[in-house]
Amino acid sequence: MTNPRTALVTGANRGIGLATARALHRAGWRVVLTARDREAARAAAARTGPDALGVPLDVTRPESVAAARAAAGPVDALVSNAGVLLDAGHDPLTVPVELVRATLDVNVLGAWRVCQSFVPDMVRAGWGRVVLLSSGTGTFTNGLFPGAPGYSLSKTAVNGLTTLLAAGTRGTGVLVNAVNPGPTRTRMMPDAGGTVRDAAADVVQAVALPDDGPTGVLFRRGRIAGW
Ligand SMILES: NC(=O)c1ccc[n+]([C@@H]2O[C@H](COP(=O)([O-])OP(=O)(O)OC[C@H]3O[C@@H](n4cnc5c(N)ncnc54)[C@H](OP(=O)(O)O)[C@@H]3O)[C@@H](O)[C@H]2O)c1
Repeated sequence: MTNPRTALVTGANRGIGLATARALHRAGWRVVLTARDREAARAAAARTGPDALGVPLDVTRPESVAAARAAAGPVDALVSNAGVLLDAGHDPLTVPVELVRATLDVNVLGAWRVCQSFVPDMVRAGWGRVVLLSSGTGTFTNGLFPGAPGYSLSKTAVNGLTTLLAAGTRGTGVLVNAVNPGPTRTRMMPDAGGTVRDAAADVVQAVALPDDGPTGVLFRRGRIAGW
C-alpha cells in the first residue's frame, strides 16, 4: 500500500468523473485523471493539482487501456465512471441495436476491460477499492427504465459485473461496489437537479470504505440500496 494512495478515474475530463477526481485529491489521494483525449486529460489534471496526472484512456480500445496501465502504474483505487447515454427517447421495441451495442461497449465492456487491467495489481497488493458508476435506470428494484433501454440494460449489467468482480476478489482486501449517484446535472443529463459535488461525495464515500466495509453492494447516498 502506497502513501498517499493513488486513485484512477475514467472519464475524468468533465461531469461526475472530474468532480470525483478533484474530491479525491482534496481528500489526500494522488489522482490519475484519464480521458479519451490526451489534452483533455492533461487539462483536467492541471485543474486538479500540480501532483495530479493526466493520462489518455479510451475504454473501448484495449491498446489504450494497456497504455494507460503502463503510464499510470499500479493504483490502489479505480473509479469506473466513463459512460455514454446514446438511446434516450428510444423504446425497447424499436431502438437501433447498433446504439445498444455501442452503449454496452463503453458502459459494460469498457468498465470490464479497465477492471481487468487494474484490479489484479490490487489483489497482488492485498488492498484495493473499485467503484463502478451505476444508475437507478438499471435497478430491478425501481423497474428498469424503458425510455433509454440500451443505457438502462448497460447499468443492470454494471450491477452484475460489480457482483461478479466482488465475488472474484472476496477475501483479498479488494472491495468492489457500485454507486447510483441519482439524476445529476452534467452534459449527459443537463436538466437534472442533482449536483456533481453530491455525486462525487457518494463515490468518495465508496472509495474510502474501511477494510471491513461491504463488497458487492450498490450504494445510493451512502446507504446500501436494492439492486
Ligand atoms: N448524470 C447523471 O444523472 C447520471 C446518473 C446515474 C449515473 N450516471 C453515470 O455517471 C457516469 C458519469 O456520467 P456524467 O453524468 O458525468 O456524464 P458526462 O458528463 O457525459 O461524462 C461522461 C464521461 O465519460 C467519458 N467517456 C465516454 N466514452 C468514453 C470512452 N469510450 N472512453 C473513455 N471515456 C469515455 C466522456 O468523455 P468525452 O468527454 O471524451 O466524451 C466523459 O468524460 C456515467 O457512467 C453515467 O452513466 C450519471
